[in-house]
Parts: sequence; structure tokens; C-alpha cells
Amino acid sequence: MQKLYVFDTTLRDGEQSLGITLNVKEKLEIGHQLVKLGVDIIEAGFPASSPGDFESVQTMAQEIKGVTICGLTRAVAQDIDLCAEALRKAEYPRIHTGIGVSPVHMAKKLNLTPERVLEQAVFAVKYAKKYVGDVEFYAEDAFRGEPLFLTKVIEAVIAAGATVVNLPDTVGYASPWEYGELISFVIKNVKNIDKAVVSVHCHNDLGMATANSLAGIKAGARQVEGAINGIGERAGNTALEEVIMAVFTRKDGYGVENNINHREISATSRLVSRITGVTVPDHKAIVGANAFNHASGIHQDGVLKDRGTYEIIQPETIGVPQNIISLTARSGRHALQFRLEELGYRIEGAQLDDVYQRFLLLADQKKEVFNQDLYVLMGDSGDSENGIVFQSMSIATSGVGMATATVTLEIEGEITTDAACGNGPVNALFNTIDRITGNKATLEDYTLKSVSRSSEALGEATVKLRYGDGHLVVGKGFSTDVIEASAKAYINALAKKSSGEEPAMVI
Ligand code: KIV
Ligand code: ZN
Repeated sequence: MQKLYVFDTTLRDGEQSLGITLNVKEKLEIGHQLVKLGVDIIEAGFPASSPGDFESVQTMAQEIKGVTICGLTRAVAQDIDLCAEALRKAEYPRIHTGIGVSPVHMAKKLNLTPERVLEQAVFAVKYAKKYVGDVEFYAEDAFRGEPLFLTKVIEAVIAAGATVVNLPDTVGYASPWEYGELISFVIKNVKNIDKAVVSVHCHNDLGMATANSLAGIKAGARQVEGAINGIGERAGNTALEEVIMAVFTRKDGYGVENNINHREISATSRLVSRITGVTVPDHKAIVGANAFNHASGIHQDGVLKDRGTYEIIQPETIGVPQNIISLTARSGRHALQFRLEELGYRIEGAQLDDVYQRFLLLADQKKEVFNQDLYVLMGDSGDSENGIVFQSMSIATSGVGMATATVTLEIEGEITTDAACGNGPVNALFNTIDRITGNKATLEDYTLKSVSRSSEALGEATVKLRYGDGHLVVGKGFSTDVIEASAKAYINALAKKSSGEEPAMVI
């Protein structure tokens, strides 16, 4: 079997295009999980896009080992210089440079003739090669490009030293057979194609990113690019977990293998969802909450007789835990650790002690602690780490829609209490927190959901705040009291905003 390289762009095409600003700590957390998952390449960001992105790529390059760390650039010297600098400490650095090759990109976006685009592409690869051996070239909007021109560009960049050539369907326009044909055409007509790995990079505008990527793999591509949970601009990127499970489940059809540790898929999906604030739909393939639920009587009867009747993937294959023991206030540290391990969290020592104490607090409020509660417990890193600590609150409602909230916060060690009115309890709460903290950001989105199936459910609140400079920051809060969960989410978003960063430029 041939190797299929798995290239993760959750932190570049996924995160950046959503307009969400993840901080370095959050990016590192995702990066370390991607290493556990076994991806080959992590695209950590676009260093020239903003000082924040430069710092993130630099920190990832320094901290995350055993995997290729990649940075994106346009085909210009200053981007490549910055990217090379950000990647200086990477164990395996890769520069991903490129330029648009479709008529509309060349004429309208770049205002360049095809000859100039070809020159620029070759220049960029040669320039990047001065810094690193591993240079990937992307032919942006390749699918809508003229195939003969595309082969000319690809041949020239491989001659210039590109080790990987990426042929994106940038706007998700292709159908699977057409994208497969494009990959075959390039493989057949580029003389030096054996000197490079062909990569597929698809977007999901017509809901075909996974199908198109698989068609490209079937046609001979040996690297697939995508984002966990399919996050990304517009309808998103290829959902990496879907391609991974398709080539695994249907080895007979694809004949490729990779380094993926499938048992980490579920944990990776939940981590990315928690950190980005992008919820995974219940019916989402592979990682949706209902992906392994059999609801109808006929199906339940079938799986009880033989799982194979309606199950093509067993949930434990991707790390969805099976409940064996009940976790209650009487459960010990060991039982908790065991269940957490099943969920994909490996913790011990002081971290286990801390989680166990929080587990006991939760278990005191609930009869049984469920897996969903534990995911929340692991994601709930506490509200005090960024200097704002939620202390207490009380809400009074008048019965005509108006409410008054009184909130006490500790900010940098100082206790402040204030009150404000609002159009309902949540609005009053947020108005009060704004008064205390002087917040000027606007509330872009607020959602509340239950994350347990019992009546003593934990509430998970998500708040998105838009700052004046365009940054979007996501905060999460969890509590069995949904108003308290909302307060924590709001404070979490406020605390996360790192001042002074420029909004990132997006390709
Ligand atoms: O979709 C695309 O074309 C891209 C490139 C910049 C790699 O994301
Ligand atoms: Zn893309």
C-alpha cells in the first residue's frame, strides 16, 4: 500500500477564515492533539498575515516536535522571509507558497498575465528553497484553471524544487469525477511529476469536499489537506476525519495507508469544537453525536442481532467511549482516570488531582456524571487564568421581560460588585459585566445548550464577541445553572482578548 500524507490546516484555512482569533495557548493545545492523532503536517498559520499569526507559527515550530510544521505564504519575497523566520526552530519545516492560476484570479485579483504568474511561481519556489528543503506549491483555484497552463506551472515549480504540489478546488466548484480527472491529467502530463507528491485541497461549497478529495486520492494524489470537523471559510474545508475514515473503512478501494491513530479522532473533534466555538451538528458524519445512534426499532433490532447490519464503523474505533461503570460522588480517582482515558484524555499527578476535585464538586450536584459532563469538565479550564474571576451573581426579574442582575467579579485581585438592568436575565447579566469591565465589544452570537442527557444537565454557553478591530473572540462557560454558565462564557471571551493585535489577512 502507498502512503497517504495527512496535512491538517485547521489552524490556518480552518481558523483564520472563520475570523476567530485563537490565542497561542489554544493553538498549541490543538497542535499537541494533532500530533497524538498522527497527522504528518500541521499548517500552523500564515505568518505574514499578522504579528499574532507570526507568533503562533513561531511558537508551534518551537514547541511541537515529531511532525512537519508548515507556514503559508503568497508568492512574494517578504512573506517567504517572514515564514522562514517563524519556522526557524521547527524540527521539520515546510514553506507552502503559491499563486492563483485560474483566468479570474490572474486577471482580476492579481492583474498579471499567465507568463508573469508562471515566473512568479518559479521565483517563489526557488526563493523558499534557499531556506528549507521542503517546499509545497499551491496553484490557487487550480480546478478552474486552464489544464494545459496548470501542467506548465506544475512542471516548472517541480523543476524549481517543489517537493509537494497542491491543486486546490478553492471555491468548491468541482464534482468528484471532474476533480479526479484533473488529478489524473496532471499526473499524466507533467513529465517530472514523480519528483513531487500531488496534494488535494478541496472546499465544501457544493457539499462535495470529501468526495472530491477521495476522487483525487483514487486518481493518484498522495497528500490530502483538510480541517478537523470541516471548519473553514464559507461552507468549510474537507473534513479530515471523513477522508481518514473513508480510506480506512474502504481500504479495498483506495489502497493507501497513513499514520493516523484512529482512536484519537473523537477527542480531536471535541477539542477543536470546544476551542473554536464551532459546534458539530448531531448528524455530522463520523463525529456527530448521532453518528452511531440507532433510533428506529428495526435498526435497533438489527444491531442487537449483529452490529454489522447497520454499523460500518464501530464507535470505539474512533475513540467514542463505551460506558461500563457509573461515575458518582463515590467514585475514586482511578475510576475517573480510567474513564477519562477512554475519552482520550491522558492526565495524571497534579492535573488529575485538580480535575478530580472539580469532578467531586459536579458529582455532588448530580446523581451521575456522564461522558458529556467529563468533556466539559476537561474543557473548563477555570475562569481565573486571565485575571478575571467570576465570584457570584443574583438576578431579579419583574415578570414583564425586564431583569436586574447584580454581579461580583474579582479583577486582578480586586473585588467589584455592580448591577444593571436588561431586557431579560441574560441581557441584564451581560450589561452588568460590561459596566464592571468597561467592555466595548459587541455581542455577535450567544448560544446555550444542554450537554448531558439527564434532567440535572450541565449547560454549555458560548459567547462570541466582536471587537472594534474586527477580531472575533469565543468564550465558553459551563454550569448546572444556565445563567451562571452564560456569565462564565462572557467573562471567558473578555479574558481571552489579547490587546494590540492586528486582524489577520486572509488568502
Ligand atoms: O483554497 C485554497 O486555494 C487555499 C490555498 C491558499 C492553499 O487555501
Ligand atoms: Zn483553502
